[in-house]
Amino acid sequence: MRIVTSSELLQKEIARIKRSGKLIGFVPTMGYLHEGHLSLIRRARHDCDFVVVSIFVNPLQFGPREDLDKYPRDLNRDVALCRKYTDILFLPYLQSMYPKDFSTSVEVKKLGDVLCGASRPGHFKGVATVVNKLFNIVLPDAAYFGQKDVQQAIIIERMVKDLNMPVKIKVLPTVREPDGLAMSSRNSYLNPRERIDAVVLHKSLLLAQDLVRKGNINCKKIVHKMKKLILEAKTARIDYISIVCPETLSPLKEISSQALVLLAVFIGRTRLIDNLVIKRR
Ligand code: PAJ
Repeated sequence: MRIVTSSELLQKEIARIKRSGKLIGFVPTMGYLHEGHLSLIRRARHDCDFVVVSIFVNPLQFGPREDLDKYPRDLNRDVALCRKYTDILFLPYLQSMYPKDFSTSVEVKKLGDVLCGASRPGHFKGVATVVNKLFNIVLPDAAYFGQKDVQQAIIIERMVKDLNMPVKIKVLPTVREPDGLAMSSRNSYLNPRERIDAVVLHKSLLLAQDLVRKGNINCKKIVHKMKKLILEAKTARIDYISIVCPETLSPLKEISSQALVLLAVFIGRTRLIDNLVIKRR
């Protein structure tokens, strides 16, 4: 595995790889890698001839009062974790990604304005902009994203389609801890009490699934029961719970065939997200 910090050098290397006809797989991350990230990297290794992983804590996608400064970092550990499956680890410098005169952004309207986009204004604009930039540098044939951040994946798919970007987007399942908590770099913020409480996100999604399977299809009622369950955890505060159409993210009143249930919950001061696609049997 080679570590590259310069976009220009990486672009030269990518041009060489492309000439040899190799398929390039790309996994963009913000580091502090866990099994969720590794599942994407392993799949890229399996599908492609050449694997590029990036680690860049992208300031554009953090709000002014969010956790940019304290976002967890452990580069040595990350390097060791991805070494086995990665050909190039791209670690761009902030200044080279966003020089002083940087003035372009990419915004996916509507899909980027709801759910997490409503709670975190500008977040998805920051995500779409950096992913676009990274795609232009890496020129991947396939790029790998997690279902854990399903709205992000849907927005990237939309961006790629709308802008005719020649990359295949692959979305892989959420990797969870044994108790169901979705793996996230931000789980490291939780104290032991909060870590126990944090399972309510997944538990409430399972409750929703159970209710639907038993024939309860009224979304308001399902959300009400999810809320009740979540608020039994002392450290939990709900940001949003929403049941939507998995393609358009528009809210549903009733579940006819398939629905996407998403939620964002503060556990103490840590905002966690999770989601589940629910099918009526
Ligand atoms: P980050 O949170 O580091 O996540 C990188 C990728 O790993 C994303 O596609 C995310 O959905 C996926 N991922 C995270 N936790 C996962 C889990 N438990 N199971 C499966 N996949 C998981 O998402 C970002 O970084 C950034 O927004 C980025 C796309 C890199 C742009 O800055």
